Amino acid sequence: MCGIVGFIGNNDSKEILLKGLEKLEYRGYDSAGIAVMNEDGVQVFKEKGRIADLRSIVEEDVLANTGIGHTRWATHGVPSTVNAHPHQSTTSRYTLVHNGVIENYDLLKREYLQGVALESDTDTEIIVQLIDLFAKEGLSTEEAFRKTLGLLKGSYAIALLDEENKETIFVAKNKSPLLVGLGEDFNVVASDAMAMLQVTNQYVELMDKEIVIVQKDQVTIQNMNGETISRDPYTAELDASDIEKGTYPHYMLKEIDEQPLVTRKIIQAYQNDSGNLTIDEEIISAVNDADRIYIVAAGTSYHAGLVGKQFIEKLAKIPVEVHIASEFGYNMPILSEKPLFIFISQSGETADSRAVLVNVTKLGYKTLTVTNVPGSTLSREADYTLLLHAGPEIAVASTKAYTAQLAVLAILAEVAGASKGFKHEFDLVQELGIVANGMEVLCDAKEEFEDIARSFLSTTRNAFFIGRGIDYYVGLEGSLKLKEISYIQAEGFAGGELKHGTIALIENGTPIIALATQESVNLSIRGNVKEVVARGANPCIISMKGLEMDGDTFIIPEVHELLTPLISVIPLQLIAYYAALHRDCDVDKPRNLAKSVTVE
Ligand code: F6R
Repeated sequence: MCGIVGFIGNNDSKEILLKGLEKLEYRGYDSAGIAVMNEDGVQVFKEKGRIADLRSIVEEDVLANTGIGHTRWATHGVPSTVNAHPHQSTTSRYTLVHNGVIENYDLLKREYLQGVALESDTDTEIIVQLIDLFAKEGLSTEEAFRKTLGLLKGSYAIALLDEENKETIFVAKNKSPLLVGLGEDFNVVASDAMAMLQVTNQYVELMDKEIVIVQKDQVTIQNMNGETISRDPYTAELDASDIEKGTYPHYMLKEIDEQPLVTRKIIQAYQNDSGNLTIDEEIISAVNDADRIYIVAAGTSYHAGLVGKQFIEKLAKIPVEVHIASEFGYNMPILSEKPLFIFISQSGETADSRAVLVNVTKLGYKTLTVTNVPGSTLSREADYTLLLHAGPEIAVASTKAYTAQLAVLAILAEVAGASKGFKHEFDLVQELGIVANGMEVLCDAKEEFEDIARSFLSTTRNAFFIGRGIDYYVGLEGSLKLKEISYIQAEGFAGGELKHGTIALIENGTPIIALATQESVNLSIRGNVKEVVARGANPCIISMKGLEMDGDTFIIPEVHELLTPLISVIPLQLIAYYAALHRDCDVDKPRNLAKSVTVE
């Protein structure tokens, strides 16, 4: 979480830093700050709240062509101006921004900084004070920086300004994402490429434990021993319009609407010249060689994993377990003899998933990452990657990445099954095409979902989503969407499980959103609806064409029953969106959250 940016060049850096931070706001938005350096010294502006709040306090007439900036998601210390970055050493010589968590900060404080009056409650301030301490002891800034980094345990992406060396930004990375952007007469660093797209599309990747000396006409990458590393830049195929809202009021609505297009893009990306679905042979061998697949993910990606298990077990006939990444370390299952680990992650940066990846790689197991972000940490560190091709997802609540994950997992399962000679009664390319058309119909029915949100959810404090089988997993995702952006307490439940305790929560008017897209459980889920209606619940039944019954609230277009999650989730995304809107919530940036969760 948190995002950092740094710029050094000939132009005034303020606007570049602020625009970069606006693009990084998805990584955290409880406070923000910039520091700019010119011949008069370093000036820091920081503010609790959003980048817009920071913008309002940055003094227009301060001109500086070097600067660093930060947008924060609090880990150590409450969101406040004092705890906002940049942090300065007590001498004000050094100014620093940091994304990550320093696990041994307390130990370092006690060992080295007893006499130093710290200003904030952050782990970050320790870093800047240590650099200052070592510089006072006679080390050069580069040496002091290196010595400090050697003491840190944890994750960091750091940009450092030294008032006595105005030609340089000192940068380092370990476990937190960081890229260098190259330009003519300027260079820039940031937590992701989107934050630099305004000035360049030429990037250099950084690896863990690397230090970078960034000057306006030179970038020098070094390892921790000071040896220079040469690495070619790459051109990012990102389009600036992908990261703009255009005419949409919110990114979330834009991204919901993009789902038909993304599904079609995925079909194309995974088709060969003859129109057949194809995946790198090495990946298919890894899948088919496995005697069990372990899917590891968090949040929405975990929900995609639950559906993905159904695809893989049905189409490729390989047993699958799905695990919450943050629990895997404590509850490591007894592994099979030839496991394959699949990490599902929109961002490719989730620390909980990465911790498992690092562990199982050490144990010598094969790993595959399914991600939206090429070059992300999980992609780089896994043996294989499958890309989602969904384009940047900016809204904190994941929508198009979820359906893209389902589409890619379905293709993986189908291709793996087909390579073993399993014949299926359907053509996945055609069925995904039908899904994309169905998605379009749903995206065009926004008014109906707005009405449903208004009538079922505008004043409620809680809501339940029920389904059976694959519908249950979609219900889990629907409830996560609703709670994270509208702050309504929502639970997804297996229809049959409700009566074993949770039904006690049903009162007069409690909204129950039931999914009925599976013929085999259509009657039983409707039985569960009757049970809660008998206790006063207010039901909203979303069924699929062909299975509808009198009184259903909305009927989604018919698609192959295995693929229903790709479209039944869209009403739930839109209902959550409108519920949040009607409750005056900040749809794209819900409280307490960040898009990319890079702390464990
Ligand atoms: C919810 C949401 C989160 C993420 C989770 C994992 O809308 O976006 O639950 O799914 O933080 O993130 P990734 O997929 O980037 O690993």
